[in-house]
Amino acid sequence: MTDAWMLDELAHAGPEHLDDAFIAGYDRKQGYPDADEDLAEFEAHGLGPDSRVVDLGAGTGQFAIPAARRFGHVTAVDVSPAMVAALNERAARAGLANLDCVTAGFLSYTHDGPPADGVHTRNALHQIPDFWKAIALQRIADVLKPGGVLRLEDLIYDFQPGEAREVFTDWFAGAATNPADGYTAADFAEHIRTEFSTFRWLLEPMLTAAGFEIAEVSFWGRLYGGYTCVKAP
Ligand SMILES: C[S@@+](CC[C@H](N)C(=O)[O-])C[C@H]1O[C@@H](n2cnc3c(N)ncnc32)[C@H](O)[C@@H]1O
Repeated sequence: MTDAWMLDELAHAGPEHLDDAFIAGYDRKQGYPDADEDLAEFEAHGLGPDSRVVDLGAGTGQFAIPAARRFGHVTAVDVSPAMVAALNERAARAGLANLDCVTAGFLSYTHDGPPADGVHTRNALHQIPDFWKAIALQRIADVLKPGGVLRLEDLIYDFQPGEAREVFTDWFAGAATNPADGYTAADFAEHIRTEFSTFRWLLEPMLTAAGFEIAEVSFWGRLYGGYTCVKAP
């Protein structure tokens, strides 16, 4: 997209995601989350060995690589050229011929070929402001076939504005102390200040407006949500 009003997604990608040193330590800091639960969610909604899945904001491939071992074809999309380079190397080492890596963002990715059966996005949608989230969710719906499945996980605020100080104080208290091992209180504060996690009660109407039905939702604490959504047939 070249319109002058379009968001510069790379400028909002988070400078650390463009930095080779951060990317090299990313998996350790992230803590190696198990992709099985997400894969099972897709399978519970009918995806299988012939399915086509797109992972948006794929990072180092923590979901895309296990997904390519389970599903027919995976397109891993990330706006950071450095992330995509790291992911390409990893995909080549894994010998996965059915995994394509694409440098593009939520707002610039163009989907070729048949509509996708599933879209996954974890810890990435918060990089863009709410107006753009709504546009991104509509674009995700357009990538999916009718009945297709969106699995979305992110830092999402499940509280009212007046509760922010109390919730964030608890969050900081449980943070990592070594930045190599996890996200520190300073990382969390920077996230709140400079990134665009939104309230649950704003996100859910955006999902509905994009034509999704929320099939499953779970929250961990009042800060992290996982959604399985189905595009209206
Ligand atoms: C915190 S990482 C999450 C990576 C991966 N999904 C995971 O869960 O491990 C956020 C990723 O989103 C990417 N990103 C940031 N803004 C983006 C955008 N507008 N479109 C696509 N990817 C974006 C970053 O480059 C980074 O790789």
